[in-house]
This record gives sequence, C-alpha cells and structure tokens, in this order.
Amino acid sequence: MSNGASPREHWSGSLGFILAAAGSAVGLGNIWKFPYITGENGGGAFVLIYLVCIAVIGIPVMLCEITLGRYTQRNPAGAFKMLNPPTSTLAHFLGMIMTLCGVFLMCFQYWGWGALLLVIGALIFRYRWMLVGAMGVLAGFTILAFYSVVAGWTLGYVVIAAAGSLRFTDVAAAATHFETFVLSPYWAVGSHAAFMLLCVLIVYKGIRSGIERWSKILMPVLFLLLVVLIIRGITLPGAVAGVRFYLSPDFSKISAESVLVALGHAFFSLSLGMGAMITYGSYVGREQNLFLSTLSVVALDTLVALMAGLAMFPAVFAMGFAPDVGPGLVFLVLPTVFNQIPLGAFWATLFFLLLSVAALTSGISLLEVVTAYFVDDRGWSRRKACVVFGLVIFLLGALCALSVGPSGWRNMPWLQRTFDFAFGGVKNSLFDVLDHVSSNWLLPLGGLFISIFVGWVWGPRRAVEEIRRGSHNFADVHLWSLLAGLKDDPSHSSDVHVITLASLWGIFIRFISPIAIVIAFLHTVGWLDLTG
Ligand code: TRP
Repeated sequence: MSNGASPREHWSGSLGFILAAAGSAVGLGNIWKFPYITGENGGGAFVLIYLVCIAVIGIPVMLCEITLGRYTQRNPAGAFKMLNPPTSTLAHFLGMIMTLCGVFLMCFQYWGWGALLLVIGALIFRYRWMLVGAMGVLAGFTILAFYSVVAGWTLGYVVIAAAGSLRFTDVAAAATHFETFVLSPYWAVGSHAAFMLLCVLIVYKGIRSGIERWSKILMPVLFLLLVVLIIRGITLPGAVAGVRFYLSPDFSKISAESVLVALGHAFFSLSLGMGAMITYGSYVGREQNLFLSTLSVVALDTLVALMAGLAMFPAVFAMGFAPDVGPGLVFLVLPTVFNQIPLGAFWATLFFLLLSVAALTSGISLLEVVTAYFVDDRGWSRRKACVVFGLVIFLLGALCALSVGPSGWRNMPWLQRTFDFAFGGVKNSLFDVLDHVSSNWLLPLGGLFISIFVGWVWGPRRAVEEIRRGSHNFADVHLWSLLAGLKDDPSHSSDVHVITLASLWGIFIRFISPIAIVIAFLHTVGWLDLTG
C-alpha cells in the first residue's frame, strides 16, 4: 500500500504506540489549560463532567481515527482520498447547502462571506470527503504555529528559572516579567526556534528511532516529575484546602457553558479532530489491539490531567492564592508560589521542564501529520519534508509570536494593515486568530466529520472488521457476558442480536458524538446560546 519500494515503518509494539500517542495527547492542554479551566469552573464538579465527555466522545472518536489510520496506512489527507466514495449523497447535500447559503448571503450583499461559502461549496462538490483530511493537514500548520510559541515560553522559563531569576513576591511583579519576556523578540522568537528545532530533530529520525524512542524516554520523565511535584505540593502546610477544592464537587458553579468547555477541551487534550491519531494509527501493525490501545491512551491522558491539578492547587492554596485566575495560573501564579517555598528555583525549574517535555511530545505529533502527508502523497523524503515544513511553521509561528502585545508588528506596518483589513475588530493578533480558528473551527468540524464519515459513509461494519483483527472481544463478545466474566460460555454467543462493545460504539459514533459536537460547536461560534 505504500508508495515506492520501502514498506511503511511501524511502531515496535503496543507499548511504543501507546506511549507515542499518549505523548501526543499529554501536552500543554493537560498541564497548563486543564487546571485553570477547572479552577474557573468549580473544581471537582467540572472534573466529573470532563470525565463524562472523555468517555462519551473522546473514546469513540479516538477509536475512529486510529482505525482509519491503520486501515489506510496513510496520513489524514491520503486516508480520506483512499476511502473517498465515488459519489456521496451526504457530501453533495452539504455542498448544496453551502452554495445556497453563499448565494443567499450575496443577495444581501455580504460579498466576502458569500464568496467564501461558494468556494467551500464548490470544493465540497469537487473533493467530497477528501476535504476533511486536507483540513487536518492544514490544522497541523496552524496549531503547531501557535502551540510552539507557548511551548517556547515554557522552554524560556526553564532557563530563567534555572538561573534563579523568577523571584517575585506578588503576582503583579510576575505579570510584568511575563509581559517583558513575551514581548521581547529575542526571547519569544528564540525560544520558539529552539522548540521547533527539537521537534524537527526528532521527526527527522523517523518513527521508531525518532518519535517512539523519545516518547519512551520523555513520558516516564514526565510522570516522575509530576509525582515529585505532587508530593512537594501536598506536603506544604495548608495544602488540604487545595485538595478539597479540587476533589469535592461544587455543582453550583456548573453551567451549560462549563459542559461545552469540557467537551471542547476533551477534543484538544486527546489530540482529536485533525488526524494526528490517524497518522499515528497508520504506523500500527495489523496484529495490535486497537481498542485496548485507545483505552490506554485515553486513560494516560486523563490521569496526567488529573495529576496536574493535584500538583498545582495544593501549592496555590497553601500559599494563599486564588485558584480561578485563568490562563496566567502557570506563568504568573506558580512562579510566585514557588518563590515562597524553600528551594523555589529548583521546583520552578522542574515544573517548567515538565511543561516543556509534555509540549515536545505533542509538538512532534503535529509536525508528523504534515510530514506524513508530504511523504505519502507527494513523494518527498521524510528528511526534506520535516526540515522544510519545520521552517515554514517556524516562520508562521515567529510572526505569531511577534503579533502579541500592543507593540506587535511595530516594524512591519504593511503586515499590520493587511491583518487589520482581514480581521480588524474581531481579533487582536495573529496568535489569537490561529488559536481561535483551529480550536473553535477546525478541530470540532474535523471531529464531527470524522465520526460521521466512519459512522455513515465508510460504515461501522468495515471499521469493526479492521478493529477485529487485533481484538475479538471488541466485536464478537456479548457485552454483558464480557462484564460478567462469561465470555467463553457457549450460551452467550453473539450470533443473535445482542449488545457488543462494537454495536455500542456504532451507536455512539453515528448519533451521540455527532449530536454532542454539533451542539457544542454551534454554541462556541455563538449561533446557539445555552447559557440563558
Ligand atoms: N493534545 C495536546 C495537548 O493537550 C495538543 C495536541 C497535540 C493537539 N496534537 C494535537 C491538539 C492535535 C489537537 C490536535 O496539549
């Protein structure tokens, strides 16, 4: 199935795949974002809702992606190209709706939006489901561009913390420092360059000796760092208040909004919606158990998110800070907290090292999606693809790093003018635009279409056939017999129509996940207001 002479490289075994995929999933989303959105949404109650989203949407959609990948042995664009049916009523229907909406908008003289929708409609008619894969590769560029800017900040903070310069007595001082750091072109672009360089070096080495090898080293390091930080946090005097906040649910703080935040975050945290898992799945051997691997990856990602909260809140409470400060929790509050405990510089260095390690294994998965596309579908060598696109993403990210803050693109007024023309009044910086477009549009739409494609177009039957290769339990065993420990009992055969894990999964990806995603999506883009 691969193009050319050399067969596709595969992970050395289940462990390699699970650690690499968990490495992709565990990232800034778990350690930077999850604790602060938990802090803003009522602690324990939010954690419970997040767990439900993971189970209901996360597991089914991840299984879709990994199965698509292993079946096609391709990157997302290649995978959808291979499975694209010659005609698809659903795609034509969508294309028609888009075109009609475009015409409608033009009648009301919304020329820009109208033209955009017409173009999208035409593309859908021409390429059908291939667009979903193409969108995934595109998202690889946009996500990595801003992700690596934030990852660069964490790398920079490792250096600054190790030099002992993160000494703040209050959060305001930390904020001033953070601003100076982020707005300094040398630090911001330099650390972003360092991060991209590390990603390119690892992806350059290929699957086994690059991604798998480094995931096997970095993931245990990450786990160890996290455990050490948790022990430090919960042994501080006064830490119990933080543990209580984190683990005891306060349902009064929960709103429809919190549910949507949890759902969106489940996607981002599990690296779903743009084919990162399709790509990693394409390196999985036929004998491996996809279902168990999916469960392990999801479990590891969730465990690390939960542990990250436990590493942070006890320390934050012990030092008398508020938990609901938003995105600044990691860069502003934590350095201040560390400064007040003995050996603060050491703990701060460890912490930012932890963040950088987590970001690195995620960054490589994003670069791998882009690389795999140019290797599979364009016949490039892996080395050329990852170096060239590493550089392209670096440039895009550098623009993005320089775009934040008031002085933004000081020396490039023409760029600022173009930007203001395109997005003026809507977004402040290229950074915000990339973050917004990928997290709120590309990922949810990608996830929606992936589950609709597997559920309704490619079909659960073919998907289950692929999953069955490494896992008979998933497809053939009556669910109740499996749970009851009676799976080999002859009277529980699944020749009759009974619930198997596979049938349950089919129902989830055909109905439950798409509906939940559509509701969340309409809400995030503001077309549906559930908050009341
Ligand atoms: N999951 C990672 C995190 O939690 C980020 C990430 C890596 C990602 N690859 C992705 C997000 C693909 C969406 C899609 O930080």
